[in-house]
Amino acid sequence: MCGIVGYFGERNGMPIVLQGLKRLEYRGYDSAGLVLLKENTLEIIKTKGKVSELIALANGREAKIVVGHTRWSTHGEPNYINAHPHTSMDNSIAIVHNGIIENHAELRKELQEKYNFTFRSQTDSEVIAQLIQFFYKGDFEEAFRKMLTKIEGAFGIVALHKDHKQILCARKGSPLVLGVNNGEFFIASDPSPFLEYTKEVIYLNEKQMASIEETGYKIKDFNGFNIEMEIETIPFGIESIQKQGFEHFMLKEIYEQAETIQNCFRGKIRHIENISIKKENIKRIIFVSCGTSYYASLVGKYILEKSSHIPVVVEYASEFRYRHPMLYPTDLVIAVSQSGETADTLEAIRLAKKLSCSVAGIVNVTGSSIAKECGQGIYVHAGPEIGVASTKAFTSQIIAMNLLNVYLNKDPYYRAELIEELEQLPEKVKAFFKTQDVKAIAEKYKDSKYFMFMGRDINYPVAMEGALKLKEISYIPAEGYPAGEMKHGPIALIDENTPTVFLVTKDTVYTKVISNMEEVKSRKGKIICICNEMTEEIERLSDDIILIPKVRWECTPILNVLPLQLFAYHIANANGREIDQPRNLAKAVSVE
Ligand code: M6R
Repeated sequence: MCGIVGYFGERNGMPIVLQGLKRLEYRGYDSAGLVLLKENTLEIIKTKGKVSELIALANGREAKIVVGHTRWSTHGEPNYINAHPHTSMDNSIAIVHNGIIENHAELRKELQEKYNFTFRSQTDSEVIAQLIQFFYKGDFEEAFRKMLTKIEGAFGIVALHKDHKQILCARKGSPLVLGVNNGEFFIASDPSPFLEYTKEVIYLNEKQMASIEETGYKIKDFNGFNIEMEIETIPFGIESIQKQGFEHFMLKEIYEQAETIQNCFRGKIRHIENISIKKENIKRIIFVSCGTSYYASLVGKYILEKSSHIPVVVEYASEFRYRHPMLYPTDLVIAVSQSGETADTLEAIRLAKKLSCSVAGIVNVTGSSIAKECGQGIYVHAGPEIGVASTKAFTSQIIAMNLLNVYLNKDPYYRAELIEELEQLPEKVKAFFKTQDVKAIAEKYKDSKYFMFMGRDINYPVAMEGALKLKEISYIPAEGYPAGEMKHGPIALIDENTPTVFLVTKDTVYTKVISNMEEVKSRKGKIICICNEMTEEIERLSDDIILIPKVRWECTPILNVLPLQLFAYHIANANGREIDQPRNLAKAVSVE
């Protein structure tokens, strides 16, 4: 899960690649580097710092063929030597790589022991450059393809040879997209680096490579056979990847949600039969997902089981794929993923296919690996999500769950009511943002050392999402729990210094949650209450109250999560954290 961007054309590619790397930093930011190809020389510039340091180092350099990389470390600590690009022993070849080469150790050993190759870094990636050198006899493309037959694992690779005016790239398991614009070409992990130059793209498929030369581009399979690929047009513009006056992408993405949830249901809600998921003979749904997408899947379980009476199982993709799940051909396995690149989710879907299940995706990024692998499903159309902490993708995923519910539900009256409610949601989201001041409450609690988040029923996964948001961007320990479980252990953590955020909606479990609040209050715990109706009990028990607009039960997670996102954001900001790029994380976890 690193970021790759390359330029081939007539203008100076340096600002394009550097700007592009900045946009791809959400994929990793442990180190950065680039390679310039000029008159039979490769010039490498790299840093153990972030792209901003690379920009300072590269100041004034120009080249018409440039390839850059921003790294999320897997093999070898984040330092200068391990930063990409990596070069072959004779410095004739430079590569950047996203993914993991699983057999790198044996390849490295063979090259070292049998052929006296020397290695410089601790990375798995360096072996790619060395192998190309090993196979090179004057034909760069042939050596590149031979290298591809040797490596195992996941990769998006871009390579340059000092004596060839050519960019070669290949994909297996890690995304690469080619941008084309009147004789100039871009290659990147996603289209954001070149959106202002072209919206015409080709998403490379699994086991495809591309060769870019002055005469144009060619897409081939790994055996070198040409493949005709359709050029697609990206449906969003440059504004969707800019901060537009917000201090952080996360904040911008939080405030975009009235619009993004509408984008998710627009065009589908009144044409539900257009959803491209085969539902005949499906007896059970299994969601596979990770992180925030896992919590959205749990919300989906609550909705689908209660409203459409379909058995639903939700699995962490990383557990599912290694535990020999009991699957039947009548199971529909649905991958839920913002990026569409999460390695565990992708592999879970491949496993389900192998075991003869139907598969589908609820995915944000169009053309992503999971979307392609599934071949059917719902695109949530939240637009590019750049903040590492997922926000707008979560609410859109819950809209998608509701669409699935409408699609599968057999009661026309129920469906009509739910559709009406969904259509009113954007206005309710706007109303919440206009009226509630979460910042002041967040700042009051910014020095707390530990937080609990409690909810029951459909609000239980939302409580876990609230805790995840807070810990990943503020680094403050937090736990999300089903409120009824509190007395089985976590209540021991409650004292006057522990704030508990309660999600309390006026529904079937309202009185139960009030009892749980009483239990916390009697142990002097502080209570922040998120509710959709002010009641005597809530006023009496809460230290702080955030009021959200009333919505149907199926839609409460969407309204309830908004204050939790803002709460996490403002606490992290008040503590001076790097909100869009929290430590140790990356946006697309395309490695195991
Ligand atoms: O792209 P995906 O939805 O498959 O990603 C899954 C998780 O990696 C992701 O939700 C992660 O937990 C986020 N950092 C949460 O904010």
